[in-house]
Amino acid sequence: MPGLLLGDVFPNFEAEATTGKLKLHEFLEDSWGVLFSHPRDYTPVCTTELGRAARLASEFSKRNVKMIALSIDCLEDHHGWTKDILAYNCEESDCCALPFPIIADSKRELAVALGMLDPDEKDKDGMPLTARCVFIIGPDKRLKLSLLYPATTGRNFDEILRVVDSLQLTAGKRVATPADWQPGDCVMVPPNMPEEEAASLFSGGVYTKDLPSGKKYLRYTPQP
Ligand code: BEZ
Repeated sequence: MPGLLLGDVFPNFEAEATTGKLKLHEFLEDSWGVLFSHPRDYTPVCTTELGRAARLASEFSKRNVKMIALSIDCLEDHHGWTKDILAYNCEESDCCALPFPIIADSKRELAVALGMLDPDEKDKDGMPLTARCVFIIGPDKRLKLSLLYPATTGRNFDEILRVVDSLQLTAGKRVATPADWQPGDCVMVPPNMPEEEAASLFSGGVYTKDLPSGKKYLRYTPQP
């Protein structure tokens, strides 16, 4: 399904993963989900990314987010590579599992269906590799956010946590988060909210910045 759009129900695909057969919606249950794809097993950037994701597992679970990785190699490679990732993270050698499944998409079926291939990165047989996609799926199974990085640029997992915080806040409160927002910072009053409604809704007060246009759209309120 190329061109998955924000708000679309994420396909309830079935896949083989390092933890066994996985059906996406059943795996997610009522949680949020982050699905992130990788170009290939045993590659340096991917190893740093999965290591970082594993170290942040408790941050994701604190936010009720289940992580799922995907790479276009087979389960046997995933299991072998897992040991390298754990060693990269300096984990004890008897620890042999990552805190999330890695989907084996060796036929690239999901990579094609979800529009995740990077046309500029090919394997030795000339086949395209997967790009670094991030799909954030809400508890309603709908796509809330997607990010697409080329294979040569590793992701920033702190940013993924930050956008999860923004998505979860704005799903429950009628606010928007400004550039570089961090949890606890002031948030923005949405432009379509009338002044009287904003004043009654936000007990922390609304601060409106004066602008040359005279328009009163830059409105802040403490994070509710
Ligand atoms: C990597 O994960 O290091 C990588 C994979 C494909 C292309 C470039 C880098």
